[in-house]
This record gives sequence, C-alpha cells and structure tokens, in this order.
Amino acid sequence: MRRLSDKTLVVASHNAGKIREIRDLIGPLGFEAKSAADLNFIEPEETGTTFEENAAIKALASAKASGLPALSDDSGLVIDALGGAPGVYTANWAEREDGSRDFQMAMEKVEEALRDKGAVMPESRTARFVSVLCLAWPDGHVELFRGEVEGTVVWPPRGTSGFGYDPVFQPKGYNTTFGEMRAEEKHGWKPGDPEALSHRARAFKLFAETCLGA
Ligand code: IMP
Repeated sequence: MRRLSDKTLVVASHNAGKIREIRDLIGPLGFEAKSAADLNFIEPEETGTTFEENAAIKALASAKASGLPALSDDSGLVIDALGGAPGVYTANWAEREDGSRDFQMAMEKVEEALRDKGAVMPESRTARFVSVLCLAWPDGHVELFRGEVEGTVVWPPRGTSGFGYDPVFQPKGYNTTFGEMRAEEKHGWKPGDPEALSHRARAFKLFAETCLGA
C-alpha cells in the first residue's frame, strides 16, 4: 500500500455533490482538494463495467493531466429487486436527451421499475449505495477502497439535503432518508471515529487509514 505524502490532491470529479462531500471528509485531515471541474479537465468516458474500473479510469485521467495524486469516486445505487440496477449506470438513469441530468426523473424511473416488479412493501425494496474510491498517482499506481451502506428505497422522495438519489434512500436502522440528514449525519464519520454511515464515508475511512495513516 502506498501512502500519500503530498498535501494537495485532485478530486477527479465533475459532480458538485461528490466534490463537496469529499472536501468535507478530507478537509479535517489538512488536505487541499482541487477538483477536475475547477481545473477544466475533460471528463473521461466511463467504459468500465464495475465501480472499480470506472473509479480507476477517472482517477488515472486526473492524475496524469495534473501531475498530482488524484482521488475519484465511482458510486451508484444497487437495488435487489431490479437485479442490481441501476448500479454502475446510476448516473445514466438521470440523463436527459440534451445531456443534462434530472434526478427527480431518475427517482421516478426507479419507482416505476420497482412497481413493475410489484415491489411495493419495504422488505422488497432493499438496496445499497456503493462507493469505490480510487487514489491514483501520475506514475499509474492505484489504490482502491469500497464502501457500502444497506437501506431501502422509499417513495415519495423526502428531504432536500445532499444530492442525486438521497431523498429516496433510507439507510437501515434510520427513519430518515439521506435527503433529510445534515451532511455530518450522512457521513457519520470524522477522523478517529470507529464507524461511518454513508458508503462514501465508509470508503473514505479505509482510504484515510491506509493512505493517510489517519
Ligand atoms: P458516477 O459515479 O459518476 O457514475 O455517478 C454515480 C451516481 O450515483 C451519481 O449520479 C449520483 O446521483 C448517484 N449517487 C452516488 N452517491 C450518491 C449519494 O451519496 N447520494 C445520492 N446519490 C448518489
């Protein structure tokens, strides 16, 4: 495992919600995070079929373009009743014909697909959010970390915090959706805490312990 010695890294993302969450998580550890969006890097095509492959594609593209270590996140919602969909295609389900993203529409698509399967009771709507973080160096070395959080897809959407599919995801053991939680509650982690809640914070905890010695 390679440790990170630089105090600046690139967040290999153009997704404002993810960039904000990664900055929240890494800030307390004394890191400055520049984003691929701020640096005007082109978004590489996500041609992989796994979260790991796509995370590596994004992190390597930013590390090579910047000459700095780059941290990417590839994530998605894996719904049991839909055979794991939307999975690695979670962002695509939100895509409109003009290329913009509409998450209200994406959540409605998910709901329609669940109803088509007759999945109306909470026990038939189990799902998990998955996040794979990849730290890549300009020389091509990569480290990968996976975090998952179990929960249920609820309808109608609740809450306006967070981003993406947060309003329809209720983590197991909670009465609130991610959309109803403050950012700190959704992460459920700060350096030194034994547990984290969100998929991203769980992957980040592994990354911090392995590469930052946190
Ligand atoms: P990708 O990793 O860029 O392929 O996109 C992942 C998609 O999953 C995003 O478009 C988000 O909408 C969704 N997603 C990932 N993590 C979260 C989260 O923490 N909350 C809500 N939606 C998420």
